Amino acid sequence: MLSAFAETVDSTDPLSALRVGERPEPRPGPDRVVVTVKAAALNRHDLWSLAGVGLTAEQCPMILGCDASGVDEDGNEVIVHSVIGDPAAGGGDETLDPRRHLLSEDLQGTLATRVAVPRRNLLPKPPELDFAQAACLPTAYLTAYRMLTTRGRLPAGGAVLVQGVGGGVATAAILLAVAMGARVYATGRDGARRAAAEALGAIAVEPGARLPERVDVVVESVGAPTIAHSMKCAKPGGRIVVCGSTAGHLAEVDLRRLFFLQLELVGSTMGTRDELARLIALCVDKGVAPVVDGRYPLSRAADAFARLASGAAFGKIVVEP
Ligand SMILES: NC(=O)c1ccc[n+]([C@@H]2O[C@H](COP(=O)([O-])OP(=O)(O)OC[C@H]3O[C@@H](n4cnc5c(N)ncnc54)[C@H](OP(=O)(O)O)[C@@H]3O)[C@@H](O)[C@H]2O)c1
Repeated sequence: MLSAFAETVDSTDPLSALRVGERPEPRPGPDRVVVTVKAAALNRHDLWSLAGVGLTAEQCPMILGCDASGVDEDGNEVIVHSVIGDPAAGGGDETLDPRRHLLSEDLQGTLATRVAVPRRNLLPKPPELDFAQAACLPTAYLTAYRMLTTRGRLPAGGAVLVQGVGGGVATAAILLAVAMGARVYATGRDGARRAAAEALGAIAVEPGARLPERVDVVVESVGAPTIAHSMKCAKPGGRIVVCGSTAGHLAEVDLRRLFFLQLELVGSTMGTRDELARLIALCVDKGVAPVVDGRYPLSRAADAFARLASGAAFGKIVVEP
């Protein structure tokens, strides 16, 4: 079947490790069902994999892709939850299972005509979302949802700062925080992208700008260039929730600010199946339509990856087998 896969890994030129071509059909197991993929969204995770972060050359060839929507063997329209883990091993939270992994890390990923996944990882796709929109939810939107809720504990009527306006997590966080009734600020390096964030309901400012108020929750996925600003923008007792570090993972943190203002610097990764179900319900209830930057046929997955690597995308890039 046609797939986009890592033939190997290359830390200096990740895109050179990408191939689009034939891979064996997935094998259903005792508890694994085959889903016909209708749409799969790209994530920075796919670029990290090609670069050898979280994936080794020995594990290749590995079909990439964490996210998918599609149709299961019984004809049901489904969304695929990407976290493969045992909730019991994580105290009721599969993201805390020490052995948890995402699709494309151990099992073959979603950038293919078909993918085999554990049955518990399927959720019904609501008719309100098309397949491309639904494919955006399992990684970027779920991560943003957990950052705002479980980890960030956004209060009613609260304020949020989102660092970076264009990424999948950033656009998700803006849309979801607005849907939750928050005042949302967002930093962006480019005027056109800041204008696009304002169209989503954010108040967009230049990186490092002083905000009119301090916020309850900072959604931090950029890393080293923005973390000091994130710490300055949180109100006393506020949460700086970190899910990624696209632009650098080694940074100085002012510990005096941390303890004196009783800030919480909180890590967050993906989300649980229950959180994904609540996210889907929120999207339906509030009419949240995920921002799709572009759609590509699977045969043109290399163009989709080039777009992701360029950093020019605003929202999610979706591949449609
Ligand atoms: N822990 C998890 O479960 C999880 C889940 C999803 C993603 N992540 C991680 O979160 C990060 C974000 O992922 P993503 O897919 O949403 O998007 P991404 O493409 O990695 O990041 C794009 C965003 O980063 C900003 N940015 C990039 N370089 C920057 C720099 N040098 N200075 C300031 N801002 C910069 C951009 O802002 P501008 O608009 O200003 O260009 C844009 O908003 C990634 O590192 C990813 O691996 C983690």
